[in-house]
Amino acid sequence: MSSESPQGERQPTTDQQAVGDVPKNIVRHPVLHADKLSKKVTSGERSLTILHDLSLSVAAGESVAILGKSGAGKSTLLGLLAGLDTPSDGELTLFGHALSRLDEDGRAALRAGRVGFVFQNFQLLPTLSALENVMLPLELSPRAGETQTAAHWLARVGLGERVEHLPKQLSGGEQQRVAVARAFVTDPELVFADEPTGNLDPDTGAQIIDLLFSLNREAGTTLILVTHDHALARRCDRCLRLDHGRLEAFVPKDTLNEEGNQ
Ligand SMILES: Nc1ncnc2c1ncn2[C@@H]1O[C@H](COP(=O)(O)OP(=O)(O)OP(=O)(O)O)[C@@H](O)[C@H]1O
Ligand SMILES: [Mg+2]
Repeated sequence: MSSESPQGERQPTTDQQAVGDVPKNIVRHPVLHADKLSKKVTSGERSLTILHDLSLSVAAGESVAILGKSGAGKSTLLGLLAGLDTPSDGELTLFGHALSRLDEDGRAALRAGRVGFVFQNFQLLPTLSALENVMLPLELSPRAGETQTAAHWLARVGLGERVEHLPKQLSGGEQQRVAVARAFVTDPELVFADEPTGNLDPDTGAQIIDLLFSLNREAGTTLILVTHDHALARRCDRCLRLDHGRLEAFVPKDTLNEEGNQ
């Protein structure tokens, strides 16, 4: 499979562009625009700034990799960009809606069926089977044939024989694939995935990467991926690096190893 997106290889950003800008050769509308997002938390007596004034735009159909060391703030950023968490400062616009104007229910309604999320720790419900976990997003966005749709997605991630298993009866990599199936079950426009191949062996990881990019190519699904996996990052249109809560750099793909991790 080609690693090239349907739009073809993109040029690196120029000096005039901020790190988080959509590359100038992409003219499609943004699905997401983050304007100076900050996230501060208090931990005991101390106040900690996890993300500093972070701005980022992502165009429809783009695939963006976010790289960075452990603790850089990648998962925190993904949660903010998906509207699962709220920023301390700044504004996030998702599908043209300013999230600060919506309450939690409004944000959930905006995401329902349109946004899929693969959590770093999967967040499967322990009392539900693999099939029931995958069906959960369909309850928020009902459609006909829910069971068949969920079973189809489990088969696509290679778990057609594990539909009745509870999460504790699945390996870590199998749970991760259930989480991937759950993220895609509503045919979302935008998928966030936090290290979606982190628990997979290279062959299974490659299958999941192929699945992600075939959806990006065929359905135009926008992908925003956090990864340490250079094979995955190389497939993305754009690679950005987060360092101590700041979006530091556009990462040229030729600096990523063929098989290595950062
Ligand atoms: N609720 C919180 N309270 C205090 N500190 C937090 C909180 N959430 C995250 N942090 C801190 O913020 C930093 C960024 O965390 P985050 O989980 O976003 O990192 P990450 O880049 O995803 O790391 P990893 O690659 O290990 O998953 C970490 O130092 C973490 O300890
Ligand atoms: Mg993380």
